[in-house]
Amino acid sequence: MSRDQIVEHFKFAAELGIAGVSRDPAWHTRVDPRPAASSSAQAVPDTGATADALSVRTLPETPADSAASVVLARNPAEALAALRADIGPQCMRCKLATLGRRQVVFGEGNPAADLMFVGEGPGADEDEQGVPFIGRAGQLLTKIIEAIQLTRADVYIANVVKCRPPQNRNPEPDEIATCEPFLFQQIEIIRPKVVVALGKFAAQTLLATLDPISRLRGRVFDYRSGAKLVPTFHPAFLLRNPSSKREVWEDMKLVQKLLANS
Ligand code: URA
Repeated sequence: MSRDQIVEHFKFAAELGIAGVSRDPAWHTRVDPRPAASSSAQAVPDTGATADALSVRTLPETPADSAASVVLARNPAEALAALRADIGPQCMRCKLATLGRRQVVFGEGNPAADLMFVGEGPGADEDEQGVPFIGRAGQLLTKIIEAIQLTRADVYIANVVKCRPPQNRNPEPDEIATCEPFLFQQIEIIRPKVVVALGKFAAQTLLATLDPISRLRGRVFDYRSGAKLVPTFHPAFLLRNPSSKREVWEDMKLVQKLLANS
């Protein structure tokens, strides 16, 4: 898709007030009638099985504005900056804002990365420094990235929820539903060739499924705009279960192949 087509896509979305996608059943009342190539709201596993279709809905609080600023951006870096500004430094859209988070952790890396990693949500270190994946799990992720001859500066790293859940609890469905449109927009802007979903929450959110990560990993899914999606185990899980590093290494070799063939 050319830059002009992307601009058209965002303009169209802004005009409709479309902000993102969700697996919330309430969204299924208006299924996007456009072909997958233009709205790209489907994730389909290569295995031939069909993942849950997503539907499109209007999000009153965020988005037309957000889509409009993104449209005006001249390049992915500007578009990400516009999106970050739209979220705002003190986002109050969900209850995580009032449960002790210090700051929004937007994401970091190469705005035009071929490879993007998506985690669950910031932990204590990330909340303090405003940067994703810099604690113990983050240091392991850095090693995983370096194991495929890349650096953190080559890739883009973001999370499903941008604010730290208290006591590092799991993000709740309403928090994910509120924040996921921003992740989807980050992916639309960056247009990576491969997205690695780190753990259950990233994989389930991006694939709009409730399947467990154990069933999702080891497979490659077609994602929006021609990207491939590779679910793998979360680095925090690997810290507790080091023997699973072998499977993650298999997944990373697959990622290398996908990048080489794209
Ligand atoms: N775990 C995540 O999922 N994301 C982070 O940014 C840090 C730890």
